[in-house]
Amino acid sequence: MNTIYILNGPNLNLLGKRQPEIYGSETLDDVETLCRSVCADGFDVKLMQSNNEGQLVDWIHDARHEACGIVINPGAYTHTSIAILDALHTFEGPVMEVHISQVHKREAFRHHSYVSMRADGVIAGLGLEGYAAGVRRICQLV
Ligand code: DQA
Repeated sequence: MNTIYILNGPNLNLLGKRQPEIYGSETLDDVETLCRSVCADGFDVKLMQSNNEGQLVDWIHDARHEACGIVINPGAYTHTSIAILDALHTFEGPVMEVHISQVHKREAFRHHSYVSMRADGVIAGLGLEGYAAGVRRICQLV
């Protein structure tokens, strides 16, 4: 089990096209390439994205048997989803929560994260570098 799951929530399939002034012009493919390039020898990454909460929950359950750590950008579900929080509580490895934007500089509804109640690390505002930091940290921890 040396696979690191990189899970992405709603609207992140449009990364690169969606509000580039906030999220930049790079795509999820770029995220995958970056994560693969920084993961330590012997580790691999598997990037997934869904616009559906239940699908993200199912992938977190899969991670229980298939992944050594999870980097997750839950998108807007960060601020609403107790189901994703509960699913992450069933996972025993390290969890890194990533936000491309600096959510604390934005609207008040983005300041609260359910996922942070489980995450071992929280990264916001570093752009795609946040994913790389999450992967590096998981490689250190496992
Ligand atoms: C986001 C921040 C969320 O508030 C937002 O809903 C997203 C992306 C980020 O990466 O900055 O979809 O998680």
